[in-house]
Amino acid sequence: MLKFDWFRRFLSGEKERGGLAEPQNLMRPVSMASPFGTRIWAVGGGKGGVGKSLIASNAGIALSKQGKKVLLVDADLGAANLHTFLGVEGGRTALSSFLKDEVSDFRSLIQKTPFPNLDLVSGAKDALDVPDVKGSQIRKLRDALKKIEYDYAILDVGPGTSSNFLDMFLISNEGIIISTPEPTTIENNYRFLKCLFLRKIKTIADSQPDGALKDLLQRIFSDKWSQRVKTVSDITDQLMRLDFEQGRMLKEDLKSTSLSMIVNQTKRGEDAKIGKAIQTACSDYFGVDIDYIGSVGYEDSVGESIRTRRPLSVYFTNSAAAKSLDGCLGRLLEKSRAAQQVTFQI
Ligand SMILES: Nc1ncnc2c1ncn2[C@@H]1O[C@H](COP(=O)(O)OP(=O)(O)O)[C@@H](O)[C@H]1O
Ligand SMILES: [Mg+2]
Repeated sequence: MLKFDWFRRFLSGEKERGGLAEPQNLMRPVSMASPFGTRIWAVGGGKGGVGKSLIASNAGIALSKQGKKVLLVDADLGAANLHTFLGVEGGRTALSSFLKDEVSDFRSLIQKTPFPNLDLVSGAKDALDVPDVKGSQIRKLRDALKKIEYDYAILDVGPGTSSNFLDMFLISNEGIIISTPEPTTIENNYRFLKCLFLRKIKTIADSQPDGALKDLLQRIFSDKWSQRVKTVSDITDQLMRLDFEQGRMLKEDLKSTSLSMIVNQTKRGEDAKIGKAIQTACSDYFGVDIDYIGSVGYEDSVGESIRTRRPLSVYFTNSAAAKSLDGCLGRLLEKSRAAQQVTFQI
């Protein structure tokens, strides 16, 4: 069952700590993300140590090897280590300099890597208290990423459900959630998804000048109704009963967040089945489809590649992990192409 405590506080008008301080229209323009600008992929999820940076870095390298111009952005504020996965030193400046307005030119943060077509915005010097970043700074980051001359920007987002990380995840065209077969990771990712959708609903409600959606949500969460609201799907269902058009629009908006999941560190054959199970649970609880993209096995070559700072996708291309990652990337690219075609048709 879902706990909606902070969401209730939002509905009652209580100020949120460390989140989007000012109600802003973060979401609507995002779901209409320009097909012409840089495509943003965010790699994230509810748990640390599961392989987010491993997958973000190798996805970046693999894309760059296909001739795409790629910018990797270390957005794990406070625990940044993407540079180490690439075997390079962190830059003189870090993403936090831009988020704290110390550096205004985003391009000046970009450093070269030894890999052709692949550049990095490091977080190496970041020691940023996560709640410090305002929503407006994250919108500024999105705008900067859209403008730079890259085919893809891949954000390595820190773990957990802080509003900053949720907002960074929500500025992406494709959100890639990394899981492992461990029950603790699955639990944390479930919580992450729940908070992600509530965050999105909040942002949409905040962006409506007449406050109509917020009023309807307040009714849904009133004592009379609240026992009927146990999942995110229940919110949209109840909303459709109260105001069909608002409910329908919210459902569509939630579905417009394109989500994928990779299960990493699988050890047994049946571990890979967890991806499908998570997909079904998400459809039931959130009313949203998450594409299960594939699994990557637990392998010694991964540890060795990190220890020796030699990326898997360059130095261990024959390993099963690198091949699985390549397969995952192929499916993500197919999704990306299909999404761009749909956008062009509109
Ligand atoms: N497929 C894998 N096989 C073996 N070890 C892995 C695999 N994926 C991740 N690891 C281990 O997990 C550690 C954490 O990975 P990392 O990408 O830093 O996680 P996160 O970014 O989610 O915190 C790595 O240092 C590595 O030792
Ligand atoms: Mg990491």
